[in-house]
Amino acid sequence: MESDIKLIDDNGKRLDGRAPDELRKIKIEVGVLHRAEGSCYLEWGGNKVMVAVYGPKEALPRHTQNPLRAIVNARYNMAAFSVDDRKRPGPDRRSREISKVISEALEKVILLEKFPRASIDVNIEVLNAEAGTRCAGLTAAGVALADAGIPLKDIPVSCAAGKIDGHVVLDLGKEEDNFGDADLPIAISPRTNEILLLQMDGHLTVEEFDKALEMAINGCHIASDIQKKAIMDKYQSAPEVK
Ligand code: CDP
Repeated sequence: MESDIKLIDDNGKRLDGRAPDELRKIKIEVGVLHRAEGSCYLEWGGNKVMVAVYGPKEALPRHTQNPLRAIVNARYNMAAFSVDDRKRPGPDRRSREISKVISEALEKVILLEKFPRASIDVNIEVLNAEAGTRCAGLTAAGVALADAGIPLKDIPVSCAAGKIDGHVVLDLGKEEDNFGDADLPIAISPRTNEILLLQMDGHLTVEEFDKALEMAINGCHIASDIQKKAIMDKYQSAPEVK
């Protein structure tokens, strides 16, 4: 049993040198695909994700239409080359689950009633995966929806916290996800802190859960500032006058 991989050193630093409450580096580019209504390329640590938004357009087949509001089809897909062992192409249980929870999270912030019978398609392609791809995908999807001009109550954002070597930490990296004790990915509406998604893998005590949730919410706010800056950088045509 090789469980003596040390994920936190004696100085409290993690394998990649981060402090417990430190995020991996996030980089966001807005509007990178010209055939999509809205798009976003996002890097989060070693994760590389492309999101393309299409719609609102007539939902097809017609039996999927809701006469009162739009439906959201988020489709999360991992490229075969995105992980160490080649991933078999096509949907699997995991990608269906992630697509479902991301669709439900996005539905909570889009003004769906404005587009009866329509569908809004959100294609999330993971090009490189290194733990936390659902958070990276959802965060990129929020930016791509804003880029598409789809009316939103808020730009959704996502981040995880977890537990490694008995310590609660922000934004698990790959080894931390593989050998850690728990992972708690969440998504929020940053204006209100409403929880849009919350999943948990592993075990946390009630106290650890509260701490991890608070940490993940803080991480969401940091990622939200980066989202907003990326959108401003693209759409701000003139320098701000003081
Ligand atoms: O990516 P996320 O943390 O949202 O979901 P996960 O199911 O907890 O997967 C954690 C990580 O395992 C992914 O980010 C990938 O790096 C890796 N993974 C993999 O190597 N091969 C797969 N078929 C699925 C996941």
